[in-house]
Amino acid sequence: MSTHDYLAELFSLDGLVAVVTGGSSGIGRGITDALARAGASVAVVARTRSALDATVRELTAAGCRAAAVDADLATRDGVRAAAERAVAAFGEPDILVNCAGINLRPPMGELTEQDWDTTMAVNLTAPYLLGQRFGPRMAERGFGRIIHITSQQAHRAFVDSGAYGVSKGGLESLARSQAEAWSRHGVTCNTLVPGFVLTPLNARLSADPERVAALAERTMVGRNGRADDFAGAAVFLASRAAGYVTGQSIFVDGGFSVH
Ligand SMILES: NC(=O)c1ccc[n+]([C@@H]2O[C@H](COP(=O)([O-])OP(=O)(O)OC[C@H]3O[C@@H](n4cnc5c(N)ncnc54)[C@H](OP(=O)(O)O)[C@@H]3O)[C@@H](O)[C@H]2O)c1
Repeated sequence: MSTHDYLAELFSLDGLVAVVTGGSSGIGRGITDALARAGASVAVVARTRSALDATVRELTAAGCRAAAVDADLATRDGVRAAAERAVAAFGEPDILVNCAGINLRPPMGELTEQDWDTTMAVNLTAPYLLGQRFGPRMAERGFGRIIHITSQQAHRAFVDSGAYGVSKGGLESLARSQAEAWSRHGVTCNTLVPGFVLTPLNARLSADPERVAALAERTMVGRNGRADDFAGAAVFLASRAAGYVTGQSIFVDGGFSVH
């Protein structure tokens, strides 16, 4: 067997269908590009049509298969509509990546019920509902990969963690609950844990060069994360090679969490 064939057997996503929420920006865009280039057909879910269209256009030009689903994951009806429209694009997914997320950062004492509800809806309830929609069918088919994107704040308080950290802690527990339920049926459920990555999500923090440099210094690698740092880990978790990895939190953070 050639090296190419061996690697393809382990990691190729040819013929698989993926749904990536938040796949039009930042870390999700990096993951969308990686899954699509590894062979998956990717339905990308987010609100902003222009960013979705640009993502699909660029991937199609690169010879990949991608489709745009503009939907708001902050409401349960929005999540349900997104799921059905994603299925309409390429069929039932083999891979679900929950990357859409928001981080509202009011100081804890000023956090409103609306901040709490919106954060939980997008960061935790949407991944739960999408898991309920797709997970049991993956289990019936005997193969599935669910990947959630969490945060350092699932593990420690950090820069006004507020409701965000709570939602990400819940998401890590959701991965374990899903792993417990479906791993026997070939469906693995894991989380990727970023460190600090310069994306629109943390535009305010990114505008402060001293803070950005201090955060880079806290890593072991010596720099902050980039969207393409998640490519290898995402393809691995989505691939057949990761069939015995489940219920895990995999830190892709340049050593930030252990420094
Ligand atoms: N950047 C970091 O340092 C960092 C660190 C730890 C964890 N994370 C996590 O990584 C994930 C991606 O973050 P990022 O930094 O890449 O952020 P980003 O560039 O702001 O991307 C967020 C994505 O989620 C989508 N989204 C947000 N609200 C949505 C909604 N209500 N309905 C549908 N889609 C929605 C956005 O598209 P629209 O706005 O068009 O809807 C966008 O595609 C998040 O879960 C975040 O918590 C990021």
